[in-house]
Amino acid sequence: MTARKKIIAANWKMNHTHREAKSYADLLWTEVGVVNEIEVVLIPPFTAIPALAEAVEKKPVARLGAQNMHWEKSGAFTGEISATMLRALDVNCVVLGHSERRRLFGETDEIVNRKITAALSAGLRPIVCVGETLAERDDKRVEEILKRQIHEGLKGVNSKQFHDLVIAYEPLWAIGTGRTAAPEQAEQAHAFIRSVIASVSDDPTAAQIRIQYGGSVKPENAEELLRQQDIDGALVGGASLDARNFARIIRSAVAVLA
Ligand code: PGA
Repeated sequence: MTARKKIIAANWKMNHTHREAKSYADLLWTEVGVVNEIEVVLIPPFTAIPALAEAVEKKPVARLGAQNMHWEKSGAFTGEISATMLRALDVNCVVLGHSERRRLFGETDEIVNRKITAALSAGLRPIVCVGETLAERDDKRVEEILKRQIHEGLKGVNSKQFHDLVIAYEPLWAIGTGRTAAPEQAEQAHAFIRSVIASVSDDPTAAQIRIQYGGSVKPENAEELLRQQDIDGALVGGASLDARNFARIIRSAVAVLA
């Protein structure tokens, strides 16, 4: 089987100024120490991206991410940011289809698809978020929802581009609620997502694509989640705001490899 490098990402959402970002990064690297075997992505608000560029450059395992982007290259789109602008700041990846964007800002599968296509053609790696609500889980519609989000979101993505994608399984009922999916529950969804990826691409592609889990990941539960066969990383919100906590999660990913 293809070895998939674990990818641990900090999604700060609308938190931390550029000044706070700098001291965060200093503390983070001190706490983490030497780390080689995994990939770490820092995803601050747009305003803190330049402040983190230097911090990321110092660490070969670290990458910069953005939380959103527009699908057009430029133009009259007040308040928006393009993939080209992010690339110019050495941003490596972008979170797309996050449930907060879908739920609070009306992003549909179609919009997510346009953004994914634009990101890929600009050389940005999309971290594509998918996941069901509690009502959908209770109605036993998890597979249907995941399948729809993947089919619609990844429409037109070619097999070569699949290699640049990361998927994040984020059940909505676990985001910011303190309620994490049980490792077996998450594993089941991840294995299903991998099978859907195989159906829209091919088996080798599905075997190499990385699928992160997101939803109340904390230092206390990260290792157990990351030990699951199809869980290739974590997209961490709340617990990533504190550099010490995020460092502990990074160390959990390293511990899994030992
Ligand atoms: P959380 O957020 O870790 O605070 O649950 C995860 C996310 O929304 O990416």
